[in-house]
Amino acid sequence: MTEPKLLGEVLRERGVSRRAFLMYASCMSSLMALPPSAAAAMAEGLAKARRQSVIWLSFQECTGCIESLTRSFSPSLEDLIFDFISLDYQHALQAASGEAAEDARRHAMRDNKGKYIVVVDGSVPMGDGGVYSTIAGQTNQQMLAETVADAAAVVAVGTCAAFGGLPQAQPNPTGAVPIEQLVAGKPVINIPGCPPLPQAMAGTITQILAFGKLPELDALKRPRAFFGESIHDRCYRRPFYKRGQFAKSFDDEGARKGWCLYELGCKGPVTYNSCATTKWNGGVSFPIQSGHGCIGCSEPGFWDMGGLYRPLASSARPLQRVVPIAAAAGVAVGAGTALLARKRLAGASQQGDKT
Ligand code: SF4
Ligand code: SF4
Ligand code: F3S
Repeated sequence: MTEPKLLGEVLRERGVSRRAFLMYASCMSSLMALPPSAAAAMAEGLAKARRQSVIWLSFQECTGCIESLTRSFSPSLEDLIFDFISLDYQHALQAASGEAAEDARRHAMRDNKGKYIVVVDGSVPMGDGGVYSTIAGQTNQQMLAETVADAAAVVAVGTCAAFGGLPQAQPNPTGAVPIEQLVAGKPVINIPGCPPLPQAMAGTITQILAFGKLPELDALKRPRAFFGESIHDRCYRRPFYKRGQFAKSFDDEGARKGWCLYELGCKGPVTYNSCATTKWNGGVSFPIQSGHGCIGCSEPGFWDMGGLYRPLASSARPLQRVVPIAAAAGVAVGAGTALLARKRLAGASQQGDKT
């Protein structure tokens, strides 16, 4: 097999200017809170990298995660990421179907043994022998095991894949579990969100390509660059929170004045994601800016983690579900997950007291 070309060569051939390439690297490194000097190193690393083979598996999911990546309004970022990777298998985007599609997956695995990245969206149903979701005669569990066997790393995108998400919501009729529970001996990165921010997906893959190593992760295996701070930490309504100015209903005077949505059920204080700064739709807005509280879509326990409109202060009982759900799901960092969840609960009850 001929060695694939260097990314720098490929991009030059496609007319991507050095300036555009540097702008991409500098935008990515700033999103990831890397020092300014990292932009040049990132551009150099990317230019010397080879196109990365990516096999994308979709299990119990709604296609929202891949829609998030492809419907992004920042073509300069996300179009470029598709120049950097060779998406060798992806149900929603690939032209091949049936046996040809499965052949493409197995070819990519053979040709890139030990080097390809497996991206997964959706959880895996374990109930009743896995019959609730099958592809090409394989249960999701079988396909995952076969595909990750020779992978370099596994990236679980979306809350369904990272933590169980919506399919795992009580009563979890399919016995859904997150990807990490079924992967042993391979590095796993979780990029939660329902759906996840496209920049977090693109940024993580860019960093692996440019620097040849995984980004720094937190206890839940999320890249710190995108999940290191809570929505509340970066929220522009925080001054209203501090002054005790809370909207009491979605159409009252406080709501019209843009006051804090805490008492309308905002889960920003216990939700770690970068929506408040990265924002959605090409930087246009994010839920809180549109007048709706954060519903904690990127946290373990989403969807069971408390009512959408119930304030955290009154959610003590439902929020306690976070610990047993994460533990029951067997998130491989079990102890770390439970510890973090307990810390969050402690934080939530403090926030609940507004101290
Ligand atoms: Fe859909 Fe959300 Fe699950 Fe992604 S995380 S597959 S958007 S339900
Ligand atoms: Fe923003 Fe919600 Fe925190 Fe209020 S509670 S400051 S709306 S994140
Ligand atoms: Fe989800 Fe909250 Fe962001 S609901 S999209 S993590 S603001």
